[in-house]
Amino acid sequence: MKTSVMISKNIHQRAFDIFKEHNILTSVLKTKESLMDECQKHQALICMLSDTIDESFLKANSHLKAIANYAVGYNNIDLAYCKKLKIPVSNTPDVLTNATAELAFSLLLACSRHLKSALHNAELGQWKAWEPLGFLGRELHGQTLGVIGFGRIGQAFAKLCHQAFNMKVVYTAKTEKDFTWAQRVKHAELMQNSDIISLHCPLNQDTYKLLNKQSFQMMQKQPIVINTARGEVIDQEALVEALQENQIYAAGLDVTTPEPLPREHPLYLAPNVLITPHIGSATESARSAMAEICAKNIIAGLRGQALPQSLY
Ligand code: NAP
Ligand code: GLV
Ligand code: GLV
Repeated sequence: MKTSVMISKNIHQRAFDIFKEHNILTSVLKTKESLMDECQKHQALICMLSDTIDESFLKANSHLKAIANYAVGYNNIDLAYCKKLKIPVSNTPDVLTNATAELAFSLLLACSRHLKSALHNAELGQWKAWEPLGFLGRELHGQTLGVIGFGRIGQAFAKLCHQAFNMKVVYTAKTEKDFTWAQRVKHAELMQNSDIISLHCPLNQDTYKLLNKQSFQMMQKQPIVINTARGEVIDQEALVEALQENQIYAAGLDVTTPEPLPREHPLYLAPNVLITPHIGSATESARSAMAEICAKNIIAGLRGQALPQSLY
């Protein structure tokens, strides 16, 4: 029997080219098929962040020789159970760091200058004259940036802000880092002193609703909040309230709870909330490199070798 890999959505061509070179068959899940059922016919899986790889899925697919997540975040996978079943798992670190940091930067710039409303104004024919008092925004130069989760993406984003706008950078992380240009502070201090708060931590038990009602109440500078991490890191009901009470200036969200966010959700109506459909890593080069990493990890797993980007 020829080896074959299940891929839960059509991904960048790079992966298919690599599998072809190695004489490995691939099958992309069709819309009406069940991933749990289809996986049983294949030896390995490339899954998306939107696939829930939990205990019941794994029990039904304990034969898998490797699982490659087409994402760096892996909160969709029960890693402990994979470990128990000895199924190796990989993710796609590093190659999407710049893409995601740049998207966070885009959201920040758009939030600071009311781009959503300004674009609508021009497009809808409401631009009648140059307005001395229209669309007054905030300048970013010299502001204090608070980064929650100072890992690969958090650092890359902070560097952009520090270099472009001479921002002061403070952060929270699990462990101390050694940077001259960024200072580790306590959660409360970050909430109180930041003009901008950007989330870059993984979603896990410690970070679930990390930004909640109390956090919003601690904010003193009416910050711009950027989330390119995971929707569940913010208590979204508390965010809606914080916007109503003007505790924050604007929010730029690439991730929400749930995804997709239903069309009628109040967050879409707020002029100072910008929502993008989870496109952090959506650049040609990042997605190609992610496909390459997934293919290489799957091939290693099929050969019984250690995965280069192994998660445990
Ligand atoms: P990473 O390098 O592992 O960085 C994560 C950072 O979060 C680490 O510095 C970690 O601290 C810190 N952290 C963990 N728990 C924390 C807590 N309770 N409070 C504060 N900080 C905490 O990961 P990455 O590559 O930067 O990716 C970060 C996340 O971004 C991913 O997990 C994913 O969910 C999200 N993401 C989203 C997109 C998108 O399309 N929007 C794209 C890529 C990634 P230590 O260093 O001390 O361990
Ligand atoms: C995207 O959200 C990722 O985790 O790669
Ligand atoms: C604006 O366009 C200016 O010239 O100040």
